[in-house]
Amino acid sequence: MKGIILAGGLATRLRPLTWVTNKHLLPIYNKPMIYYPIMAMKKAGITDVLISTSPDHAGDFAELLKDGSEFGLKFYYSIQSNPKGGIANAIGLAENYARGDKILVILGDNIFGYNLKKDVEEFINKKKGAIIYGVKIKNNFKQYGIIQLDKKNNVLSIEEKPENPKSDIAQIGIYMYDERVFDFIKKLKPSDRGELEVTDLNNLYLKEKTLTCKIIDWWIDAGTSHDELLRANNLAAEKIYNHELE
Ligand code: G1P
Repeated sequence: MKGIILAGGLATRLRPLTWVTNKHLLPIYNKPMIYYPIMAMKKAGITDVLISTSPDHAGDFAELLKDGSEFGLKFYYSIQSNPKGGIANAIGLAENYARGDKILVILGDNIFGYNLKKDVEEFINKKKGAIIYGVKIKNNFKQYGIIQLDKKNNVLSIEEKPENPKSDIAQIGIYMYDERVFDFIKKLKPSDRGELEVTDLNNLYLKEKTLTCKIIDWWIDAGTSHDELLRANNLAAEKIYNHELE
């Protein structure tokens, strides 16, 4: 199984911090933001990781992360020329790298302590399908994809940034896909905001009844606002102190 970390985009919500640097290089407590998803990949047992970033800052990532050997991993790099292409577009650019393999995708600004190792091992043995992850949230429903579940945790719907959310479960930035993902991405059309949405991709698996959702206990998307960035710094410091995060 191959790893992909998405670290592109314009991060307009974090300006002026992101005028001259990429969001995923900003500090979260004692290290750059992207170190957290990298450590999550390592804990999951993934060794090959593609870092997908934007043309203006690709050199900074290469300078910081190099070939991955300092992390005990092997890094590959890809450039998303259109920073507004969306998550599914960025995943699609990994086709040459990951064709024929299952993939684990983590958004570069998502921080969580959950160990994905067992899920990865199970998913490798699964014939087909996709896994998404959810977290119960209290506010900011309109910032996220919202997952509606039945009592047995079967996914009923996923809606991207809905006006009237059907639940309090946010779809977070961890996704596992089978080998067919690149064919599914080719079927997607840009959304109203002009992006190839990860939610539309996940809905294709939902339609096929091969989508599974797992709920984890804590997570933060450090990229949604200055307040969330600050909260991510404090939360990371606390979790590292409590040995719940490296
Ligand atoms: C993206 C996804 C959304 C998900 C969120 C998690 O939103 O589109 O479904 O809930 O990541 O971080 P974006 O960060 O592109 O607004």
